[in-house]
Amino acid sequence: ASETSQWRPSVCFTPERNWMNDPNGMVYFKGEYHLFFQHNPYGDQWGNMSWGHAVSTDLVHWKHLPVALEPDELGDIFSGCAVVDHHDTSGLFGGRPGLVALYTSAGDTQQQSLAYSSDRGRSWTKYSGNPVIPNSGEADFRDPKVFWHAATNRWVMSLAVGDRIRFYGSPNLLQWEQLSEFGANHGAHGGVWECPDLFRLPVDGDDRRGKWVLIVSINPGGPAGGSGMQYFLGDFDGTTFTPDAAPDDVLWADEGADFYAAVSWSDVPDGRRLWLGWMSNWSYAADVPTSPWRGGMSAPRELELVSTAAGTRLAQQPVTELERVRRNRRAWSGTVSEQGGAPNTEGTALDVVAEFQLAGATATSFGFDVFANDSYRTRIGYDVTRQELFVDRRSSGRTTVHSSFPARHTVPLPPTDGVLRLRIVLDRANVQVFGDRGQAVITDLVFPDDGSTRASTFAIGGEVTVQALEVFDLDA
Ligand code: FRU
Repeated sequence: ASETSQWRPSVCFTPERNWMNDPNGMVYFKGEYHLFFQHNPYGDQWGNMSWGHAVSTDLVHWKHLPVALEPDELGDIFSGCAVVDHHDTSGLFGGRPGLVALYTSAGDTQQQSLAYSSDRGRSWTKYSGNPVIPNSGEADFRDPKVFWHAATNRWVMSLAVGDRIRFYGSPNLLQWEQLSEFGANHGAHGGVWECPDLFRLPVDGDDRRGKWVLIVSINPGGPAGGSGMQYFLGDFDGTTFTPDAAPDDVLWADEGADFYAAVSWSDVPDGRRLWLGWMSNWSYAADVPTSPWRGGMSAPRELELVSTAAGTRLAQQPVTELERVRRNRRAWSGTVSEQGGAPNTEGTALDVVAEFQLAGATATSFGFDVFANDSYRTRIGYDVTRQELFVDRRSSGRTTVHSSFPARHTVPLPPTDGVLRLRIVLDRANVQVFGDRGQAVITDLVFPDDGSTRASTFAIGGEVTVQALEVFDLDA
């Protein structure tokens, strides 16, 4: 296929060439954010699974580095994590800090293995005692994610096992004992569970009311079909995760089609909890029409817990670093109706911040048409009657990717204070929409036609007042 440079994101990470899926090994160390990723160095389909590697000092500009981990006699290198072993608990670093990666070796069976680096992640040595957690007869046994649990003075690993999460503990990252299992009676079970993560977050910024968040990717069975991400809120005592919610309550991290396998960075210095996800869906990842790369990451996002009328919810916003590459500010306020609204603007890498007055709005829906020309558009809007945010990519351009691709995705978003806040990041071939404080999120791939570069406001069935609108180009 010829190059599709018009679909190469400006600020979101993509590999230079070839296949990419999950983010892996995310860790901050000595001034660098590391991003490893599931990668086929030799082709643009899934296979030869290795860890690709990139680093960034600001989460916006990425430097591509050579492949970090390649398949070996234990199999392919599937997803996993990295941590800073600050106090050399592993004994692998002669008393100094170093980086330890834990990943799944996928050969005849799936097992957990370890690799370590004493040179800021530039070269890796596989541990001679691999696997550190052998397979005990499970078909799906993968995606270790580790953190230091200070209260029990040990490392804790979350591991996906079938459609459960199993927790392990270790004093040294090398020897692991099983602690507990979660999931038999909770959450969505329409597919296999993958890529867990477990961390504690304050609620509304208050650490005393903090909760533990257990992240679980699921494929299939996601909210927009195919793969998707659920999460659980609760407590973790160092051994057992106890959920707050009733067994069949399901919370989704993102209700678009294209946000998967997100896990958080370890060791972020300022206490922020940051993550990004693979912007694709296992239903059609192999058919995404980009070349010479296939697969991209979302913008890095900061996570919080917020109180809403429906209860405590995970909330996401693009990291503040993104604001440093905003250019060419356009600002507007006024009324949008079927007769018109804000002046049209042009751009395919945009950051949009908008506040709509719901009190007094007579429109039944309103929002933005982006990646538009006279034939195509991606519609991002709010349905006032149904109180939901939506992205409609049915006329977004190239939609033949898969039968499920031309679709309209929705997420409930009851108004909180009479104002609807929207933050939208468009990046050449995707839209990421954050409603209110970021508790309602839709991430969708789109493949706009050449020349569909217009962005405009719309309102249907009446009027809505925009009290503030800012649009910026994003230029990394
Ligand atoms: C999730 C996943 C992981 C696995 C990896 C293989 O997308 O299926 O469970 O480790 O991809 O590439």
